[in-house]
Amino acid sequence: MTATVPPIAAITGVYGYVPPDILTNDQLAQMIDTSDAWITERTGIKQRHILKGEGKGTSHMGAEAVRGLLRKTGTDPSEVELLICATTTPDFVHPCTANLICDMVGIREIGSFDVQAACSGFIYALTVGRQFIMAGTYKKVVVVGADKMSAIVDYTDRTTCVLFGDGAAAVMLEPSPNGYGILDTIVRSDGSGMKHLHQKAGGSRMPPTAETVAKRLHSVYQEGNHVYKFAVLRMAEVTQEIMSRNNLRTEMIDWVVPHQANIRIIETTAERIGLPMDKVMLTIHKYGNTTAATIPLCLWDYEQQLKAGDRLMFAAFGGGFTWGGAYVTWAYDGAKMAA
Ligand code: ACO
Repeated sequence: MTATVPPIAAITGVYGYVPPDILTNDQLAQMIDTSDAWITERTGIKQRHILKGEGKGTSHMGAEAVRGLLRKTGTDPSEVELLICATTTPDFVHPCTANLICDMVGIREIGSFDVQAACSGFIYALTVGRQFIMAGTYKKVVVVGADKMSAIVDYTDRTTCVLFGDGAAAVMLEPSPNGYGILDTIVRSDGSGMKHLHQKAGGSRMPPTAETVAKRLHSVYQEGNHVYKFAVLRMAEVTQEIMSRNNLRTEMIDWVVPHQANIRIIETTAERIGLPMDKVMLTIHKYGNTTAATIPLCLWDYEQQLKAGDRLMFAAFGGGFTWGGAYVTWAYDGAKMAA
């Protein structure tokens, strides 16, 4: 009896969406005690996009990204078999954002669910989606990373509000047409990191009350310094682990696709792996930290430069703590596909 080789799951399209409204560093400096110079030097961020409009949530951005993805890949909504949304800012506690996105874009009666792993969410969701392709269960899986961080940021807290922005991006996963695709992923977590990065109220431990709102407990609490040290350590570690178990040398990597939290974390990670910054995808200057959306937004921004067979390393770190990495060989020539 010959063993059957599982199909490789490939990313066969990507599409991103950022809302039109922009919040610049100079505008933030009029709201809080900060400056463009401090934000630029300490984080690399110059501006971020903010979703405005009453009743608009993460699903509205996710739906824009999925609509664009379906149009671009020539996919009818009825062909999508599973949709996973990575988000930390769901529209509601329930139903999940993936259900809402499906409804908005006309994808009916398939399985859809959210994955919550903060800034590592996209790598987690990709890891899950990939399994359904490898198992032969589905042939078209959509994975979305979307976050409306402006909904959970306290715009009086200068240590966090300068960091985040809103956005969404989606990828199509299909059985690889050419052997290229998602070749390896790692996901890890350490819940003891919770004390350094979390949202205090709004969950089952501390349901919302007038007091929790008055005390501003419904926004991101972060001990930046502490998180920074773990992020640098884990991003480099997970990248090196994936490279080692896939026999990859530094010079074989075409692109690193890092979570965009802080330019200094990204530079240190690249330095530890020994990769020059011109091989590192960067969008932090214009989008800030869009949490689960950063990695697919990078792919969307750089798609025109990607060629079939390019070797990509994804790496992320975020609340939980969670972290993860992926080794992906790009499955198509981006310049021919980009739209
Ligand atoms: N403008 C001006 N000064 C500021 C600002 C600001 N926006 N924010 C902080 N400062 C001040 C501080 O008050 C402090 O002043 P002090 O020395 O008088 O006390 C000084 O700047 C230095 O503060 P640090 O916190 O030490 O600054 P640091 O260089 O560490 O940068 C930052 C802070 C940008 C938050 C950094 O620590 C960081 O990027 N941390 C990691 C973020 C991350 O990766 N998060 C994970 C993903 S997020 C998620 O999962 C949801």
